[in-house]
Amino acid sequence: MKTRTPPLAQSVETTLIVNGTTVTRRIDARQHLVDFLREELGLTGSHAGCEHGVCGACTLRVDGRIVRGCLTLAVQAGGKRVDTIEGLSDDGTLAALQEAFHRRNALQCGFCTPGMLLAAHDLVEKNPHATREEIREHLSGNYCRCTGYQAIVDAIETVMKGKR
Ligand code: FES
Ligand code: FES
Repeated sequence: MKTRTPPLAQSVETTLIVNGTTVTRRIDARQHLVDFLREELGLTGSHAGCEHGVCGACTLRVDGRIVRGCLTLAVQAGGKRVDTIEGLSDDGTLAALQEAFHRRNALQCGFCTPGMLLAAHDLVEKNPHATREEIREHLSGNYCRCTGYQAIVDAIETVMKGKR
């Protein structure tokens, strides 16, 4: 039987809205969204850690839902709105979270922090009455090797109390 050579990866013209700006690029069909944002658009706030969907460092928002940027192909974001930590920096909730993280010492090396902030932002917006247990549950896909999580939960809880 004749074996077929696998086709070469193709690039696809893709238009997406990144932090409110429409961007059109030819994108390698295999490129992940977090790599596209970092390498092609210079948006390095989202981190690539495990690149296997485990650590949450690459957390992004696509059409309002948080996703793993290392498991989402950039072309899959075609026609969608992508928000990164840079794009949310003028958002009051994010600013309050950043301030609370700083005050509560909820970050050390900072590698997990952008993903952690996006996950926290999602919960504060959707469920500002979340219990500490629910906060922990919501952050269970975001790993932090430094802080032990207690200070992170404290910071998020403080922001939620301010919102109620
Ligand atoms: S880099 Fe995406 S989950 Fe770890
Ligand atoms: S602050 Fe270092 S991994 Fe979270």
